Amino acid sequence: MNNSTESTEIDIRQSIIDACISMNALHINQGTSGNISVRHGEGILITPTSMPYKTMTPEDIVWMGFDGQIVGNRAPSSEWNFHMEIMRRKPEVNAVVHAHPTACTTLSIMEKEIPPIHYMVAVCGGHNIRCAPYATFGVGQLSENALQALEGRSACLLAHHGMIATAASLDKALWLAVEVETLAKQYLGCLPMGEPPLLSEEEIQNVINRMSGYGHAD
Ligand code: 13P
Repeated sequence: MNNSTESTEIDIRQSIIDACISMNALHINQGTSGNISVRHGEGILITPTSMPYKTMTPEDIVWMGFDGQIVGNRAPSSEWNFHMEIMRRKPEVNAVVHAHPTACTTLSIMEKEIPPIHYMVAVCGGHNIRCAPYATFGVGQLSENALQALEGRSACLLAHHGMIATAASLDKALWLAVEVETLAKQYLGCLPMGEPPLLSEEEIQNVINRMSGYGHAD
């Protein structure tokens, strides 16, 4: 590895730690419930399991190759399976943020998706943010369920668990995670008054088309 590649990798490792600390500061996660990965070479850089973010150093981040190789001083996140499968099967994704934000998790406990209550639902790629059926954390079935819920979408809820946000960059994935939690809070705010009126699938498609030439284009 030459020096410039090395410093780039250290920067990515540090950016993962910074994003983990931000997740908690932004109140979209608690403790060490979340995990983050970024595509790097023929694999991913991912947070270690069960380690407080504030004590993490770049050396604690684990590299996992798509060929099954693991390079690191610690065990990878228990959720490495869905991080790997998302990166493997969605080439447009370079960062995956998983967290347990309270509003998203509340809806996921009720096994509810986020319907088109607001035009910003479109930032996830379609007219709804699906809720993947429950499977035990860390198992292959959870990856399959999440991948199905992420079909044509950049984010999903995980039943009785939390949420996943994916994007071309880590900054965008973190932004998306905050946006999905905001939509979940708005939906929860409506529900005591009944199921809210919804935007049509057609209108969400109009918004998607309009966004492609606007500030949310990337
Ligand atoms: P890790 O500490 O292993 O990343 O697990 C936390 C988690 O999100 C389980 O769903």
